[in-house]
Amino acid sequence: MPDAPLQSTGPLEGGPVIAVDRLSVTFPTTGGDGRVVRDVSLAIGRGERVGLVGESGSGKSLTARAIMRLVPRPGEVSGRVLLDGVELGVGATRDPTKWRGRSVAMITQDPLSSLNPLVRIGPQMTEMLRFHRGAGRAAARARATELLTAVGIPDPARTLNQFPAVLSGGMRQRVALAIAISCDPRLLIADEPTTALDVTIQAQVLSLLERTTAEHGTAVLLISHDLGVVSGFCERVIVMYAGRIVEAGPTEQLVSAPAHPYTRALLASVPPIQGELPERLPSIPGSPPLGGARIPGCAFAPRCPIARDVCREVEPELRAQARDGHEAACHAAGDPTWEIPELASTAEALP
Ligand SMILES: Nc1ncnc2c1ncn2[C@@H]1O[C@H](COP(=O)(O)OP(=O)(O)O)[C@@H](O)[C@H]1O
Ligand code: SF4
Ligand SMILES: [Mg+2]
Repeated sequence: MPDAPLQSTGPLEGGPVIAVDRLSVTFPTTGGDGRVVRDVSLAIGRGERVGLVGESGSGKSLTARAIMRLVPRPGEVSGRVLLDGVELGVGATRDPTKWRGRSVAMITQDPLSSLNPLVRIGPQMTEMLRFHRGAGRAAARARATELLTAVGIPDPARTLNQFPAVLSGGMRQRVALAIAISCDPRLLIADEPTTALDVTIQAQVLSLLERTTAEHGTAVLLISHDLGVVSGFCERVIVMYAGRIVEAGPTEQLVSAPAHPYTRALLASVPPIQGELPERLPSIPGSPPLGGARIPGCAFAPRCPIARDVCREVEPELRAQARDGHEAACHAAGDPTWEIPELASTAEALP
């Protein structure tokens, strides 16, 4: 392990399940320096739910794919990922099939992409259990039925005989969740798992995810562009902008006293949990820089209402804030001389 402490780390009794250390993803063909994920470090403890949030294109999915060793060519990954203290991709873990799907599982926005359309649900589930768990045919079938029941599938025997395409989006996501938890993973990465679902099904899938992972002490990394979803589910939130972590901290702290103007802007864009949606959501003007573009100073400066000259010249480091476990990468954070406008938002409605 390098000497530098891991950033974005909450209280981790017994050591983190997953520790990501200065993970970067570079696409040599992209403009700028090509780094679309930049020095992302984080750690998640047993049973802990951590959210990764940011606008589309901020590097969330590539962070997940880099952890899973699924970055497409010609993407290059640097940095280290340790699962229970063992570095992935080195020695015994060099072959990802030894741990992917078993110790680290992932569900995505479109479960059809992880389910084989040509194979019935039953064989897809039992194959995993037989391959990773060495289960016999009958035991695998029984376990698959149990798992489908656990994720709220009303008629598991019927579903096991169906092809993915005949299931509704919500049912497919339940099946994907059942497959993901079937091998009792140490870490479950859920990348926008509810984005394609309507609000009611979304809430059901999240509560299932919460219950099933809590029962097994699974560490969860929930990725979403929606800070409302993330803050309702996670104990800790990490905010990404232009490939970097710009703020991280316990959910309550981050929501009640955000230190980074980008987090404040995301909060202002969250629709109220109850009640009518405003006619126009207070959105963030402008758009993030193109992936890999190299911007001097703070990448958020072109959109930041309080930017000063220093912001355009010096890139702010991720620094600890007054409260434990709260970090932000902003020159204004914690500086009383910097006037920060009131949050004009519906964010007070957040948990
Ligand atoms: N296959 C790829 N080739 C080149 N650049 C890519 C590729 N995939 C993603 N990127 C770049 O990386 C950035 C981050 O992508 P991604 O991690 O998918 O964002 P998010 O999940 O936060 O929406 C994108 O804005 C894009 O510029
Ligand atoms: S460093 Fe400056 S430009 Fe960047 S978010 Fe903070 S105040 Fe805004
Ligand atoms: Mg994504």
